[in-house]
Amino acid sequence: MAQGKTPMNSLSVMTQIVLPNDTNNLNNLFGGQLLSWMDRCCAIAAHRHCKETVVTSTINNVAFKNPIPQGSIVTIEAKVSRAFSSSMEVIADVFLESTGPGEPRVKANEGIFTFVAVDGLGRPVKIPSISPETDLEKERYAAALRRRQLALIIAGKMDPTDATELKALFYPSASAEQ
Ligand SMILES: CC(C)(COP(=O)(O)OP(=O)(O)OC[C@H]1O[C@@H](n2cnc3c(N)ncnc32)[C@H](O)[C@@H]1OP(=O)(O)O)[C@@H](O)C(=O)NCCC(=O)NCCS
Repeated sequence: MAQGKTPMNSLSVMTQIVLPNDTNNLNNLFGGQLLSWMDRCCAIAAHRHCKETVVTSTINNVAFKNPIPQGSIVTIEAKVSRAFSSSMEVIADVFLESTGPGEPRVKANEGIFTFVAVDGLGRPVKIPSISPETDLEKERYAAALRRRQLALIIAGKMDPTDATELKALFYPSASAEQ
C-alpha cells in the first residue's frame, strides 16, 4: 500500500456558475444544490487519496455562512484532511470568485464529510495514511480525530468513555493525571 500521501495529492477543484434553476426563493444558491456539488467534489478527493470506490458515510458539518447570489461563480476545493482505517475526513472550502479586478476571492462556506472506501460488495477496505504539510492541514488533521470521536458517539458507535481526544479537550487536568 502506498504511504506518505499528502492532502494536496487528493485536491479536487470544481467550478460552477449559479443559474436560476440552482436558486431558492431569495435568488440565492439553494443549499441542497451546494451540498450536492460539495459531495461530488469531496468524493473525487477521497477517491484520489485511496484509489478505491468511495461512499459518503456522514456529512459531519456544513456551515452555510454566507448566501451565494444567482450569477456567482463558485469554486469548491476539497482535500482529505485525515485518513483512518477505511474512512477519511474530507473538507470542502467554498469560494466566491472576485467580482472586480484586484479583489480577492471570498470564502463563503465550508463542509466536512466522511467517506468510506469499499470493495465491490460494499465492504470497507483499508486505505493509505496521510501526512499533512501546511499549518492549516496540520490543524485540520488534529481536529479530525476529535470530530470522528464526536460523530461516532452521536451515531452510537463509540462509548464516550473511550473518546480520549474529547476527554483531553473538556477535562485537560483529568487526562494529564492519567
Ligand atoms: C459507509 C458504510 C460502508 C459503513 O459501513 P459500516 O458497516 O457502518 O462499517 P463500519 O462500522 O465498519 O465503519 C466503517 C468506517 O466508517 C466509520 N464510520 C462509521 N460511521 C461513522 C460516523 N457516523 N462518523 C464517522 N465515521 C463513521 C467507522 O469508524 C469506520 O472507520 P475506520 O475503518 O476508518 O475505523 C455503510 O454504512 C454504507 O454503505 N452506507 C451507505 C453509503 C451510501 O450509500 N452513501 C451515499 C448516500 S445515499
